[in-house]
Amino acid sequence: MQQERTPLLAGTPRRNSEQSARAAEEEDAAIHGHPVPTAPSSRVREVALFTWALLATAAVIVLAVILQHRNATVPVPPPTETSVKPPSGKRNLIFMVSDGMGPASLSLTRSFRQVIEERDMSDTLVLDQHFWGTSRTRSSSSFVTDSAAGATAFSCGKKTYNTAISMLPDFEPCGTVLEAAKRAGYMTGLVVTTDITDATPACFASHVFYRSQMDEIAMQEIGEGVLGHTVDLILGGGRCHFLPNTTAGSCRADDVDVTAIAQKKHGYTYAHDRAGFDALRLGKNISLPLLGLFASSDVPFEIDRRNMADIYPSLNEMALTALTALEEATKDSEKGFFLMIEGSRIDHAGHINDPAAQVREVLEYDKTFKSVVDFLDKSETEGVLVATSDHETGGLALALQTPGELPVYNWHPSVLVNANASSEYLAHLLVEHMATNADEDEEDLRKWINEDLVVGRLGIHDALEVEINALASNPAAAMQAFAGMVSLRARIGWSTHGHSAVDVNVYSSGGPAAEKIHGNVENTDIGKFLREYLEVDVDEITKELREKMKGMSPAAPYKATEETNPHPLEWLQS
Ligand SMILES: *[C@@H]1O[C@H](CO)[C@@H](O)[C@H](O)[C@H]1NC(C)=O
Ligand SMILES: *[C@@H]1O[C@H](CO)[C@@H](O)[C@H](O)[C@H]1NC(C)=O
Ligand SMILES: *[C@@H]1O[C@H](CO)[C@@H](O)[C@H](O)[C@H]1NC(C)=O
Ligand SMILES: [Zn+2]
Repeated sequence: MQQERTPLLAGTPRRNSEQSARAAEEEDAAIHGHPVPTAPSSRVREVALFTWALLATAAVIVLAVILQHRNATVPVPPPTETSVKPPSGKRNLIFMVSDGMGPASLSLTRSFRQVIEERDMSDTLVLDQHFWGTSRTRSSSSFVTDSAAGATAFSCGKKTYNTAISMLPDFEPCGTVLEAAKRAGYMTGLVVTTDITDATPACFASHVFYRSQMDEIAMQEIGEGVLGHTVDLILGGGRCHFLPNTTAGSCRADDVDVTAIAQKKHGYTYAHDRAGFDALRLGKNISLPLLGLFASSDVPFEIDRRNMADIYPSLNEMALTALTALEEATKDSEKGFFLMIEGSRIDHAGHINDPAAQVREVLEYDKTFKSVVDFLDKSETEGVLVATSDHETGGLALALQTPGELPVYNWHPSVLVNANASSEYLAHLLVEHMATNADEDEEDLRKWINEDLVVGRLGIHDALEVEINALASNPAAAMQAFAGMVSLRARIGWSTHGHSAVDVNVYSSGGPAAEKIHGNVENTDIGKFLREYLEVDVDEITKELREKMKGMSPAAPYKATEETNPHPLEWLQS
């Protein structure tokens, strides 16, 4: 019997309710920079210079954003008010979110697939064939949004401050398309590969001031919010937020058993492992409402999950399950369903700056997108698929010039083809190995790291001594170090471990209804499209929420993280 492997990073700090405030503020950027070695050697100097160049690029970008902030006086014209003509009668809406996927991620994945599957250089992804436009992503508090403000733009159709979960800058709740859809008689579903309490899914079915309030988000998602039951189908990770603190595997601060409340009070069926998922028979054997939590927190990156398929379902499997179940559940109804599917961890790979993990996340997302398109083609019910990202993550660039060299007009997908594990998983293996071999000789450790992890899993045969030493001496920074080794050799650049402000792509199955979001639109226009397509009254939900949640005030006033950071040029002077 295989022991459950979540949480993957047993040796690294994981989110729990207390830590999560800070973790959320930094959006999984408990991810620190690549360590700068200090021992004197020319190779060390090379790495130090390279790091300097990366930092310099980052500083210039940060500065550019600040300058743009100061000069941003040109008003944005309001979106044109042409009326959407949705199809009459029953309809289904599938909204897909590729968290943290920017335009460069598409080029990365397209080229990678051409190499790994020996396809023609004209070969494109399914997403490419459904390109619809681009979306501007800034939030009300920053040019660089977080996932909470990004998802509120979709769920409520309104701009808000970073960290807000369907709450507006006046700290009042806003009704969501999912809540309005449920009220109007649609069936509803959320499918993700991260914690179901994470910002994107949370924004569709809960209202809290800060995304870190995950204990509360879990309660609202299963029907304990002021609106009661709103989500019929939940598939994803984040089980730890639903278990009482008296149970192993809980990350709640209290002793509330959310799974028990979901089942006893709100009638949910609860599935919590692969056997439970298999019993759903890809949606043909489901009784709704269903709460399916198949990982303690995140589902592993697809690059690793494919070797643990006996434990975790894939995004595509969960999406197919949801489509089949919701279609069946609405077959005798006048209304269809609203389903949100998120490729949640494209963003995490971006935060870690791990291109080998990201490319497999995007491929799985593309596969899932195709499943939805195929579903719509076959379905007798009218339907639309709209897919977009909340923001870009990492400032991914598909070229890299290292100090002292001329620009090289190439990058190398083959490096990513050779890498068969995420840097997150390799860091986990390293920490685990060091814990179980505490008395191992340093030389043996370095040998094991190089042979088993670097050569064996990453397919890197030219590791520098300084790189192996950094891994052996600082396992806490190993995740970024492994990712850096892959990126450098593939000539892939990153400008940040956080998000960036670049416009993201919009994809759609198309049709006249989606015309309104053709071209370059505001992220809030996508949110408005969702409610208009379903013809549901979100304002009525907003009114009800404001009455019922009256008197709930924020725990602390919002403060932008930007202000707490040193001036971007400070490092230059030190
Ligand atoms: C568990 O939750 C209860 C409140 O529900 C609290 O009193 C107790 O301190 C918590 N225990 C731990 C170990 O956090
Ligand atoms: C269908 O689901 C039920 C639980 O809801 C389970 O007991 C049964 O074994 C499942 N059937 C199949 C064929 O998997
Ligand atoms: C990873 O898998 C590919 C095939 O998918 C293979 O060519 C490559 O050698 C593998 N790399 C390692 C390090 O095992
Ligand atoms: Zn995001």
